[in-house]
Amino acid sequence: MGAADYDDFAVQYDRENAGNLLNAHYERPAVLRLLGDVSGRRVLDAGCGSGPLAAELIARGAEVTGFDSSPAMIELARRRLGPAVPLTVQDLSRPLPFEDEAFDDVVASLVLHYLEDWDAPLAEIRRVLKPGGRLIASINHPFVRQFNEPTEDYFATREYGEEVDLDGRTTTLTFWHRPLREIVGAILDADLRLRVLDEPPPSTETPGELLPPHIASGDRSAFLCFLFLVAEKPAT
Ligand SMILES: C[S@@+](CC[C@H](N)C(=O)[O-])C[C@H]1O[C@@H](n2cnc3c(N)ncnc32)[C@H](O)[C@@H]1O
Repeated sequence: MGAADYDDFAVQYDRENAGNLLNAHYERPAVLRLLGDVSGRRVLDAGCGSGPLAAELIARGAEVTGFDSSPAMIELARRRLGPAVPLTVQDLSRPLPFEDEAFDDVVASLVLHYLEDWDAPLAEIRRVLKPGGRLIASINHPFVRQFNEPTEDYFATREYGEEVDLDGRTTTLTFWHRPLREIVGAILDADLRLRVLDEPPPSTETPGELLPPHIASGDRSAFLCFLFLVAEKPAT
């Protein structure tokens, strides 16, 4: 199944995402920390899914606009966020229906790894950012694929499938692996300045029973799962 198939398991994904370790206690807190104080900022949530991050941003005083390629996810986001929040069905690989320099921040949370080509989407993200505005993105960490599949060519940008359990339903998601040099290269080629590249630990508020034993015991501080980045559109 590809990204478009989120329509098929939107409700299961939303339930899974609400309280699990990787989304609720690792990825979302890390993105919120990287965003910092968003009060009064115009934030575009690209690939907003059912809107859990948007809801947190609105609660922190941001003015949020969201889009997602899955109509079912947008429907869930609408129910969560209410009619006042602008939400559209839109593919990140297509030209974005927003004015130049419309946003202070674009957040792309766990969405870029569904795209084969990053050049056009990053150019569009840059276009809709104000000078000095930021892209905050999280993606599957490219090293994880190498650990799991050591015989694959790490340096090839390639599609791969992964079986995931979503609230008790097993499905296969399809992602694009790209090596770190391609990730950083695409950001720099888009004329965005890489400010942060991060591999954070899970939130300190994670319930102990959700943590892997070696983290809960204090033997290790973090695990490899997602890669986080902040890139800035030059101010001049
Ligand atoms: C892993 S979910 C993350 C959702 C949300 N960002 C969150 O963190 O809760 C990935 C989302 O990206 C969306 N998506 C995948 N490919 C996309 C594309 N080309 N354009 C826009 N959205 C896309 C999916 O429909 C799905 O809602």
